[in-house]
Formats: sequence, structure tokens, C-alpha cells
Amino acid sequence: MILDGRDPSVIERAARALAAGDLVALPTETVYGLGARADDDAAVAKIFEAKGRPPDHPLIVHVADADSVRVFAAEVPPVAVRLVARFWPGPLTIIVPRAAGVAAAAAGGQASVGLRCPAHPVAHALLVAARQAGVAGVAAPSANRFGRISPTRASHVADEFGDALMVLDGGPCEVGIESSIVDCTRRHPVLLRPGVLTRAEIEAAAGEPLLDRDENAPRASGTLEAHYAPRAPVRLMPAGQLQAALQMLAGSPLKLAVYSRVAPSGTTEGMRHRAMPERATEVAHELFSVLRAFDDEGVQLIWVEEPPAAPEWEGVRDRLRRAAASR
Ligand code: TXA
Ligand code: MG
Repeated sequence: MILDGRDPSVIERAARALAAGDLVALPTETVYGLGARADDDAAVAKIFEAKGRPPDHPLIVHVADADSVRVFAAEVPPVAVRLVARFWPGPLTIIVPRAAGVAAAAAGGQASVGLRCPAHPVAHALLVAARQAGVAGVAAPSANRFGRISPTRASHVADEFGDALMVLDGGPCEVGIESSIVDCTRRHPVLLRPGVLTRAEIEAAAGEPLLDRDENAPRASGTLEAHYAPRAPVRLMPAGQLQAALQMLAGSPLKLAVYSRVAPSGTTEGMRHRAMPERATEVAHELFSVLRAFDDEGVQLIWVEEPPAAPEWEGVRDRLRRAAASR
């Protein structure tokens, strides 16, 4: 059931549910999360079951503020301290060494743990209320089934999990794509997943360059190729190639959706066009709901104009590349 996350009595009820080991879906500024108390392996197991996610894929633990980090972290490396000071609350997840015996299931058995303090007022209110009820952190992956697009509205979550799940409605997510993840457990910080924060901003706060993930990096579903996929196959093309492909498709009965900055000329019968906004943050904000809407309309192909190569587009390019990699 979808409940108004701005209602204090709903927050209290959700905090009690979390304390009792039940699942609660919550809005964050990035995407909606499917939450369970992080210190309860049985509660966390319900997340893996609901999502159909392999249990060795670690989840992010959400905390009310930086004070709760010490519950889950064995140690907070200096670079993590700098990142937290600059970006929390906000769309940044840090990976730090995990405290012994805490949140083992949430961490997917890794010796590290991912931590994030979300900026959304409903998430914050829930995390504060949960802490008062004895829950120091809420493990929450994106509230979608494994391999699918992350939800950016309460209705997306209800569509995937049905009416039995308690979903706190906090409106459409402002950021729209998942948090940037920086692994702070190694000698130098590693960008495991780009988000809307630019590499340059993160590096300025870290005080050193970010390395790219390599084969030895810990497992991360959000970093698998072929993730974040709508049902219809997605093709990513430069504007010119998109126009040429459209001409070739003219007269075909296929139901096509196009998401592009350049307006398609010579539109085909039954083609659905959605204009891609100018700014990367605007595209991030609407991207997943645009892809879901195409799916809901039953389109058979989704063609997307490749976004610019500029640094602020890294997160959007990453999500589109993965959506396109799945077929
Ligand atoms: O914006 C977000 O980060 C959203 C909201 C709900 O906070 N959450 C999210 O969670 O995207 P999820 O589980 O869909 O993606 C979390 C990513 C996964 O790729 C996971 O493998 C990685 O974080 N991760 C978590 N803990 C990790 C760890 N200890 N080591 C390496 N990767 C980790
Ligand atoms: Mg996810």
C-alpha cells in the first residue's frame, strides 16, 4: 500500500515495521529503496527474496547522519571523512571497512560496507524515527526487481511489488539516478558507479584523483553490464545515425519510441517521440520514468540519441549504456 511519507504517523508506523524486521519502501533523492533493518540478517534476507537478487550482492546501508557510521564501519579512512563532510546528506555512497559482526547479510558477506545518508526529508525522518526505535541503519537497494530499472516514483514500486508492501510516497525523486559510489577501502579512492556528482567535484573533495574500477573491484549489481533494462530493447545512437535508422524503418509496423534532443524528421507511423532535455541533471531526473512509460505503452523498440561526451553526463551515459547492453 502507498502511504503519505509526509505524515508523521506514517513515519512512526514505518519505523515500527522496520524495527519488527519488516520491509518498507522509502523515497530518497536518487531513487526509491526497499528497506530492512541492516543489523537483522533475517530481515535483510526478505529484501534479497523480494528482489530476486543474488545474496552475495551487497546492499547500501542508509543512516540518519554521519554519527551512525561508527556503528557499521571498522574504520573511516581520511578520504571517506572528506567525502562525507562535503556530500552528506546527498547522493554519495562510501564503501568502508565493515565493523566485525555487524550487517553481514546486508554487506553480502563482504568485509566492507556501503553507507549513505540520503537528503530526502522523508528518508531522513524515517531514519531518525527508526534510530529511536533501535534501528541504527536501514539496508536498502533500489526498490526494483533484479536487473530492472530503478523506481523514481512510489507507483513504480507498487507496480513491481504489489499492494502488500508498505511504500512511503515522497513524490518523484529529484536526482533520478542512483548515488555515486566511491570505494574508500583501498589505497586510492575508486569510483565504482558514477551518479550525478561529477568526477571533478568528487576529486576536489577527496583531494586526489579517482581510480576506475577494475576486475578486482567488489561485486556490484549496479555495475554489471546489462543492468537497468526496460523490457523493450534499447539502442543508443549518435543523432545522425538515428535519423538514418529512422529513414530505414519508415513504413515498418514496429512500435518505436525515440528519446532525442534532435527532433526526428520524417517520422514513422505510430512513432512516439520524447524530447531529451538540454541539461544532464534534467535527463537524470526523468530518465527512468521515461523508459518505464515507454514500456507501459508497449513499445517494441527504444532508440535513444547518445548524450554529449561532457563530464556532467557520465552518470546518464553509464545508465543508458547498460540499458542498451542488455540485448
Ligand atoms: O541511490 C542509491 O544508491 C539507491 C538508493 C536507494 O539509496 N540505492 C541503490 O542500491 O542503488 P543498489 O543495491 O541498487 O545498488 C547499490 C550498489 C550495488 O551495485 C552494490 O553492489 C554496491 O552498491 N555495494 C554496496 N555495498 C558494497 C560493498 N561493500 N562493496 C562494493 N559494492 C557495494
Ligand atoms: Mg539497483
